[in-house]
Amino acid sequence: MEKPKELKAAYQNEAILTEKLTKVFCTRSSSITALQDINLSVKDGEFLCIVGPSGCGKTTFLRILAGLEKQTSGKVYMISKNPEKPLTSMVFQGDSVFPWMTVRENVEYGLRMRGVPAKERREIAMKYIKLMGLSRFADAFPCQLSGGMKQRINVARAFVNDPEILLMDEPFGALDEQNRLILQQELLKIWEGTGKTSLFITHSIDEALILGDRVLVMTAHPGRIKAIVSVDIPRPRDILLLRSSPRFAQLYRNIWHLLQEEVTKASAREFAI
Ligand SMILES: Nc1ncnc2c1ncn2[C@@H]1O[C@H](COP(=O)(O)OP(=O)(O)O)[C@@H](O)[C@H]1O
Ligand SMILES: [Mg+2]
Repeated sequence: MEKPKELKAAYQNEAILTEKLTKVFCTRSSSITALQDINLSVKDGEFLCIVGPSGCGKTTFLRILAGLEKQTSGKVYMISKNPEKPLTSMVFQGDSVFPWMTVRENVEYGLRMRGVPAKERREIAMKYIKLMGLSRFADAFPCQLSGGMKQRINVARAFVNDPEILLMDEPFGALDEQNRLILQQELLKIWEGTGKTSLFITHSIDEALILGDRVLVMTAHPGRIKAIVSVDIPRPRDILLLRSSPRFAQLYRNIWHLLQEEVTKASAREFAI
């Protein structure tokens, strides 16, 4: 597993830069261009949401940034400001908690791997367990919890590591509307307290506008940047007020127009296969 390169140059305001980033997957019978010529700059402390049709390369992009996948060509610069901290933490799509560990052990896991002493890691883990509303369940096992609660463990686990950059791949995708709303609120609260550079993949335009400073819209396969929309809605954000604001409705329409064409293309491709 290769880590993305760190750029020591004088980029004061950027956390991530990509230049002509391209990823081609080669299988025995064919090759698939998952990402093509992605040129992106993410500011330090920015919350960037990524939307795009299924199969357009969103997960692949985050996996490359996390160092879990290597690009075929192009450059990725992850600009570390604090070498003491882990560069990235990723919240994966779906359920990725360890079923044999309690909630607290799951949340402490990354700290334990980094050799943080027991007392200190317990304190840090409990802080985020509390923030995610899981205090009562700290000693419970994941099988005793609902899907929404398991997803809270994943989010807490990522924040506990205190990475410079947080990468989240549809973390609330499998949740029902009510739980999603609650977790979006919790995430906003934690994020507004830390100001951590965050990339967040979602299939919900609503969610992208609630959370993001900007929304990156990707094209259907192969994934390219179609547009980047600035979400000029002030923070701190109140989700319910936000949803009823005229600016929210306008941004929603803009993004949907951009996305609609791509989703149609992606569906046509599925039928053609
Ligand atoms: N390990 C892999 N081997 C071959 N093809 C892959 C692999 N991972 C992803 N792909 C292909 O790359 C494209 C982008 O996938 P992905 O990044 O998962 O899209 P998204 O997250 O936007 O749904 C898809 O066509 C997918 O089938
Ligand atoms: Mg995906």
